[in-house]
Amino acid sequence: MFLNKLKVNHYRNYEQVELTTDSNINIFVGPNAQGKTNLLESIYVLAMTKSHRTHQDKELIGWNQDHTSLHAEVTKRYGSCKLDLAISPKGKKAKINGLEQKKLSNFIGALNVVMFAPEDLEIVKGTPGIRRRFLDMEIGQVHPAYLYDLSQYQKILLQRNNYLKQSGPVKASLDPMLEIWNEQLAQYGVKIMKKRQSFIKKLQQWAETIHRGITNHNEELRIRYSPSFDIQDFEDESVFLEQFMIKLSQVKDQEFRRGVTLVGPHRDDLLFYINEKEVQTYGSQGQQRTTALSLKLAEIELIHEEVGEYPLLLLDDVLSELDEYRQTQLIQTFQQKVQTFITTTGLDSVHMDKLDHASVFHVLKGNVSSRS
Ligand SMILES: Nc1ncnc2c1ncn2[C@@H]1O[C@H](COP(=O)(O)OP(=O)(O)O)[C@@H](O)[C@H]1O
Ligand SMILES: [Mg+2]
Repeated sequence: MFLNKLKVNHYRNYEQVELTTDSNINIFVGPNAQGKTNLLESIYVLAMTKSHRTHQDKELIGWNQDHTSLHAEVTKRYGSCKLDLAISPKGKKAKINGLEQKKLSNFIGALNVVMFAPEDLEIVKGTPGIRRRFLDMEIGQVHPAYLYDLSQYQKILLQRNNYLKQSGPVKASLDPMLEIWNEQLAQYGVKIMKKRQSFIKKLQQWAETIHRGITNHNEELRIRYSPSFDIQDFEDESVFLEQFMIKLSQVKDQEFRRGVTLVGPHRDDLLFYINEKEVQTYGSQGQQRTTALSLKLAEIELIHEEVGEYPLLLLDDVLSELDEYRQTQLIQTFQQKVQTFITTTGLDSVHMDKLDHASVFHVLKGNVSSRS
């Protein structure tokens, strides 16, 4: 799929911008703090209805404005579609081909994107919460029902935690109220963990091959799902559910003492290994960065596999950080296949001779001008 046209209104530092984009490569060039990332972010928001860098939707609205609106025209294999997303302090309104979508989860996934930005190093180096967010966003854009299960799980978790806190440390052996929470928690927990497990399995297969390619066959990357308790069988849902319930009964006393839920997908993690050594602990900065890159590129293939089309690739400030070999490797793998948006402060860091054709846009103080 690719984006033909992008319109943004009152978005961050943009008053109004309308762009016709190249179906191959688009480069946004300009000094710092002019709006390059904001533009890529607006494309990401059109795909996910959320920013990749803030949870606060109101930050996206231009200062002194009461709402922002985004519009995209997307060409897909079987036709085209128009996407509209308006964000105000009251909430979001999403339309596909002019038809309002009551549920945002029906809108998410109409446009697929993969963003790679310097912050993505945190997926490897940062806290487990960052890795869970990565999993949730990526699974969600391909399987919107996952987002519904996730929000149900989070509601139940919150209520269950409140119950544990209020009850205090001393508890009778049988607690019918807790039994009800347990069943609901396990029911949604199992759905989420099954999806995560199968996503990671597929991601691993792609990432392994891609990583070998970008490291010239020097490094073997492994990605492992690390749930909060051992699971023998992901496939059989009733067995899995039972394991979850048994685990909950085992940690019950501890949970009452501490007032929090100790097992479930909210405690999941993702582990990375290069040549059998954990990247988070033993990897060099360069290996951590390449791991993050392999992950993102694997996602492109995974989305292609699941959706039947390639997503857009958004590369924010990362091309200049790659050496020539890696840059060429990246561009040659995806050009003519994946529509790519690149930001950079200078064209001298981009090996233009490796690009088939590209549109160059200059970004200055919230204005975008094209130059071929
Ligand atoms: N809600 C907003 N309204 C107006 N300007 C904003 C808003 N949010 C951020 N900005 C401005 O956007 C600019 C940063 O844009 P950004 O896209 O991050 O720059 P860069 O070109 O370096 O990627 C800053 O000047 C910042 O003040
Ligand atoms: Mg930037």
